[in-house]
Amino acid sequence: MIVTGAALSRSSIVERYRRNRGRSRALFDLVSDEAYYRRPIAWRHPIAFYEGHLPAFAFNTLAKRALGRPSIDARFETLFARGIDPDESATPVEMTWPARKDVLSFADEVDRQLIDLMEHADCADAVFTVLEHEAMHQETLLYMWHRLPFADKKRPRSYTVSVAGGASGTEWIDVPGASRRWERIRSRSRSAGITSSHDARPRSRTSRSSATTPRTGGSSSSWTPAATGRSSGGRRKIGDG
Ligand SMILES: [Fe+2]
Repeated sequence: MIVTGAALSRSSIVERYRRNRGRSRALFDLVSDEAYYRRPIAWRHPIAFYEGHLPAFAFNTLAKRALGRPSIDARFETLFARGIDPDESATPVEMTWPARKDVLSFADEVDRQLIDLMEHADCADAVFTVLEHEAMHQETLLYMWHRLPFADKKRPRSYTVSVAGGASGTEWIDVPGASRRWERIRSRSRSAGITSSHDARPRSRTSRSSATTPRTGGSSSSWTPAATGRSSGGRRKIGDG
């Protein structure tokens, strides 16, 4: 039994670790081979770094520092040990990163050894640091991927387009207080000088369909009628958004 605040069994720790690792692998598998060494965000490392960083951090933290175990690959454990961001005081240094197959081979050995330690050694708090670190990086990876051009991303292996069934249903539901909140937002927008094209035209439609919402990617003064959703009448359309 591993105890930190709340008791967790070894099997549940290993299950969480495996789940983390599987999710990370799925994220990296979304990136094309060509994009693997690119920097979607200039002041972040190339994508290759993060696939090595996760197992390297885990191994350095749990196996080496907490339990005094020997290295698997001292070069990788150093190369991938640096923090989340490159040194912001200097221009990012272009360097040669390992081939992905070598990174994955290192990661596989880290996983094998760490799972063995989680099952048999006294891992103490270090195991929670490892679990939390990987989950936090997964969030970071997602917004890095968001900056990648669409062509640099791959469809997940398990993804299938569902075309079965008919169109989703729609119905109007009451949202308590929505009308008052929406009017406050409109009032603040007008006070800030943001004009709405909707406000400028006659209100010939019912209050239910008169809501407006900012157009994503447009200028702050450009507004467009909502396709679905909010309603100045305090109602919200569901099932089609
Ligand atoms: Fe990190």
